[in-house]
Amino acid sequence: MQDKNLDNAIASNKTYGDLDVQHAVFCRLREEDPVHWTEPDGFEPFWTVSKHADVMEIERQQDRFLNAPRSKLFSIDFQREILELMQGKTHLVRGLPQMDGLDHKAYRQLTQAWFQPKQVKQLEARIAALAKRTVDDLVEKGPELDFYADIAVWYPLRVIMLILGLPAADETRLLRITQAYFGGSDAEVQKGSDLIKATQDYIAYFDGVSEDRRRNPTDDVASVIANSQIDGRPIGHYEASSYYIALASAGHDTTSGTAAGGLLALMQNPEQWRKLKADPSLVPLAVDEMVRWVSPVKHFFRTATEDYVLRGKDIKAGEHLMMCYPSANRDEDVFGDPFAFRVDRNPNRHVGFGFGAHVCLGMFMAKLELQILFRELLSRVDSFELNGEPAWVETSFVGGLKRLPVRMHLEEAATAAA
Ligand code: HEM
Repeated sequence: MQDKNLDNAIASNKTYGDLDVQHAVFCRLREEDPVHWTEPDGFEPFWTVSKHADVMEIERQQDRFLNAPRSKLFSIDFQREILELMQGKTHLVRGLPQMDGLDHKAYRQLTQAWFQPKQVKQLEARIAALAKRTVDDLVEKGPELDFYADIAVWYPLRVIMLILGLPAADETRLLRITQAYFGGSDAEVQKGSDLIKATQDYIAYFDGVSEDRRRNPTDDVASVIANSQIDGRPIGHYEASSYYIALASAGHDTTSGTAAGGLLALMQNPEQWRKLKADPSLVPLAVDEMVRWVSPVKHFFRTATEDYVLRGKDIKAGEHLMMCYPSANRDEDVFGDPFAFRVDRNPNRHVGFGFGAHVCLGMFMAKLELQILFRELLSRVDSFELNGEPAWVETSFVGGLKRLPVRMHLEEAATAAA
């Protein structure tokens, strides 16, 4: 017997705008029905997968569980709109998250080396300069400000713009597009735009970038993509646009949401902030704990290519599975005291970056930029306190905080310099 309220809650953007509700839904699922057949109103049915081991089991088998044709949750109405607009294609873009098998491998290899730790490390000094500028802004705007809107949203955007080699003058335009792209049904974030419009805006913007890099190649990722070859032929226009969009969108809200959500967790657990201040060598562990804690990517979908038994449930070929990362990251069977935020949690085998062939391409970049930001914050700010109600984006896909009012107390040296 289906529980309609539960099924509707799993698919509803609103569930994810209230963390208590989100975690209550998934605690219940992990306890009562970890692989749950879900039939929400207005959506094609799917299996909700809430346990860490099951998410890993699916992610490990990329040939049995495909990203195409359904990589994320769309309503039936919206899916129909896309099919009409895209003349039969199920997605607006065809980036890495929409690809499988050899195709995915070939496209991923184009930029994979660029995102490896050694390569990313070469950007450390330039990212550190962006982090310093970000904390300078914080000091200037403080002591009371919205850490998300005034700070967290800008820093990852600037890092993305650095790796794509985009001019600073385009910051506001790109920010507006990304926020509309990931706004879900959250009216406050979307500000009247929608996913289709945001995708068209992205494509219009990146068309110019692509053309420019073909004529004047540099050492940025945009040049790598624009001048790449697939099967001996120049990359297609649609695929190149999709690649830029995947990077620009995936690298932004995920990281800003983690930075703001991580700071909120530190304010709610002041002893953890003090621990980190006393021993900044814990920052890499703390960043992983922030990703586990926030899990800004709420799900990705896979489609079974053959019948499969998962935790005793019969998955039929062609059925869809929603892998729920925030739930897997609070799984009592994997994490001791999963609802405790611990900056020194070790080991921390979270799946916040996914796993397997599609594991986050920008994982090392994201970790490095968050580590640099928090080191800068810890060295210049004595403490933060909440200065109002935080608010979370209402989205079932990607998002974090949209408001984080804080009051900060600077270190004495920083106060004197300000
Ligand atoms: C804290 C920050 C981030 C989190 C939590 C995160 C999380 C994720 C997750 C869960 C996936 C799907 C993995 C899967 O299907 O197994 C993913 C994919 C991806 N991410 Fe990230 N991400 C972050 C930052 C970034 C950054 C900074 C970039 C790029 C600059 C990036 C680029 C990508 C791309 C291109 C994919 C698609 C990979 C593929 O399908 O092969 N991400 N990310």
